[in-house]
Amino acid sequence: MEAGFRPAEFDFPLSFTGPDGIGATPFDEVLEQEAPDVDGDDPAVALRQVLGQFATGVTVITTLKGEQVHGMTANAFMSVSLEPPLVLVSVDRRTKMCSLLHEGSHYGVSVLCETQSALSDRFAGRAGEGLPEPRFAVVRETPLVEGALAHFVASVQRSYWGGDHSLFLGRVEYARHHSGSPLLFHGGRYERLGQAR
Ligand SMILES: Cc1cc2nc3c(=O)[nH]c(=O)nc-3n(C[C@H](O)[C@H](O)[C@H](O)COP(=O)(O)O)c2cc1C
Repeated sequence: MEAGFRPAEFDFPLSFTGPDGIGATPFDEVLEQEAPDVDGDDPAVALRQVLGQFATGVTVITTLKGEQVHGMTANAFMSVSLEPPLVLVSVDRRTKMCSLLHEGSHYGVSVLCETQSALSDRFAGRAGEGLPEPRFAVVRETPLVEGALAHFVASVQRSYWGGDHSLFLGRVEYARHHSGSPLLFHGGRYERLGQAR
C-alpha cells in the first residue's frame, strides 16, 4: 500500500477528537514498512501462529439486516473504556458482517460458554454435520445468541481503518452476564479453562 493511502470508504475526519474524547490517529502516520521479522517460510502464516499464542475468549457478533439475523464468530473483541463505556471488534473487510456495520448501526456481542464451540464453527462458516440451530433473544432491536456467558449491545460510534480489517468502536448500551465457564481459543484450537489451583 502507498504511504499515506487512505481507502475512500473511510473518508471522514479521523484525526478529529470529539467532545466525548474519542479520537483517532491520522492515516498519514501509517507508512509502508518492511515485512515483520518472524521465523518461517511464509511470514503471514508465521505471524498468524505467533499471534495465535494470545489466548482469547470467543464471541459471536450479531446484527440485523432488515428482519434477518447475521452472525459472525470473532475473537478480536476487546473492552476499551468504562467512561464512556466502549468496546471494539476487528472485522475482516471481506466478510458480510463488515458490509453490514457502519456508524449508527448496532451490534450484539455474545461471549460463548465452553459448550458452544459448535455455534462458533457455525458462525465462522465452517460446514459440519448436525450443527445446532442457534436461538436468539432480541434486545434493543439487536439479536443475541441464547445460552451465552455474557451479552453486550453496542452502537457503532466510529469505524477505523485496520489494514485488511475494519475496527468498529461501539458504545455499550446493554450488558448482562450469567454464571458458567468461557470457551477459549488458543493456537488455532478451542480450549477450556483448566482446573483452579
Ligand atoms: C475462533 C474464530 C475467531 C474468529 N475471529 C474473527 C475476528 O475476530 N474477526 C473476523 O473478521 N473474523 C474472524 N473469524 C472468521 C469469521 O468468523 C469468518 O470469516 C466468517 O465466516 C465471516 O462471516 P460473514 O462473511 O458471513 O460475515 C474467526 C473465526 C473463528 C473460528
